[in-house]
Amino acid sequence: MGRAGFGRAARTGQDGTVSVNGASGASESGGASGVPAPEPAEPQAILTPLTEAAIFLVAVAGAGAGPAGGPDAGSLAGIRDLFGDLAGLVRSVGTREPRAYLTCVTGIGDRIWDELGGAPRPAGLHEFREFRAPGRLAVSTPGDLLFHIRAGRMDLCYELASQIMFRAGSALTVVDEVHGFRYFDNRDVIGFVDGTENPAGAAAERAVLIGAEDPEFAGGSYVIVQKYLHDLAAWNALPTEQQENIIGRYKLSDIEQTDDVKPSYAHNALTSITDDDGEEVQIVRDNMPFGTPGSGEYGTYFIGYARSPDPTEQMMRNMFIGLPEGNYDRLLDFSRAVTGGLFFVPSQTLLEQLADGPLDAGDAAAQPAPAAAAPAPPAAAPPPARAGAGSGSLGIGSMKGISRDE
Ligand code: HEM
Repeated sequence: MGRAGFGRAARTGQDGTVSVNGASGASESGGASGVPAPEPAEPQAILTPLTEAAIFLVAVAGAGAGPAGGPDAGSLAGIRDLFGDLAGLVRSVGTREPRAYLTCVTGIGDRIWDELGGAPRPAGLHEFREFRAPGRLAVSTPGDLLFHIRAGRMDLCYELASQIMFRAGSALTVVDEVHGFRYFDNRDVIGFVDGTENPAGAAAERAVLIGAEDPEFAGGSYVIVQKYLHDLAAWNALPTEQQENIIGRYKLSDIEQTDDVKPSYAHNALTSITDDDGEEVQIVRDNMPFGTPGSGEYGTYFIGYARSPDPTEQMMRNMFIGLPEGNYDRLLDFSRAVTGGLFFVPSQTLLEQLADGPLDAGDAAAQPAPAAAAPAPPAAAPPPARAGAGSGSLGIGSMKGISRDE
């Protein structure tokens, strides 16, 4: 996939550049004053190539996802302890088979942030936004924490997930667990190669890592997940040509259709978005197939990382509502989203800090932030405009859009 290499830590440098393995031009030894500059925040292992295996665990604090009340103190303490232990667990399991490159990315949901993180809030953190149109729903489901566990072998993913659950004890209840596998040449169970147009290298780092736009949370990211179930019998009954028009690529070769052939409703047409300057706004996806044929379940676990939730929400809006409204993603005639969650992914540095307690304003301000990070993403979306406001602009500044109908 050409993304940042296995085990290499991408860093947001103090000059705003993102570097890998600390190899940026940024000085870490101090400015003109001679005072040592603080270490830049170390991102979690978001940018790893597609793996053979993954486990996605979505959990809520405590005994369950009851509608009332926040998490109890005991569960919060257990979660903090787990945050403190996570890096060690990954080392203990991963070092037993280093070639399998075990990683775990931890995300924190909106409901639990205030108790875990304290007053400073990541600018883009909110509940998952639902998108609804007749016959289509991007549903929001409960989730306080996400663990995205990846490795070249499922046994390592399994072992780490087990150790996390043993360690969490009654502090967490898992509400969704998916075991994903690599299917041939990185294909979805619908038979198309998935992940081709992901950004790579520095472009991927720019797409996913928060920079100067939210300096307290620099080196962090946002992740949106959705578990999709496919009506595979109906999909397989479609002629390949129609499937290709729905995806916008040729099935066998994975080559993109040319603009004169590709329908405006093609999946890759609706999920390609640009800013006001015509620049593509990208996210990094790490979708995995999953399934239990015996019970007729065939799925794709969608997972998209970005430095703001806006681009992924924009893509989802285009898919579910349509661009323009009604010109929706026909993939949704065969695929149903049964979960939906948005999580803030703190930097590794901040995750370990949260083990010691919530940040007060001073702590967060102390998070070293780049002076001038990579260009900030489009501004946050304004309050929803109701249907009919099909002006074409979402006001996400810069992104090609449609009216909101949430
Ligand atoms: C049923 C669930 C989904 C399936 C099976 C699926 C499958 C695919 C496939 C096969 C491609 C073409 C190859 C590639 O470039 O990766 C693709 C592209 C893409 N998908 Fe999805 N996808 C799903 C859901 C989503 C969702 C929910 C989003 C975003 C909200 C999304 C965003 C994208 C993007 C950004 C591209 C690349 C577009 C381009 O620049 O060409 N996908 N997807």
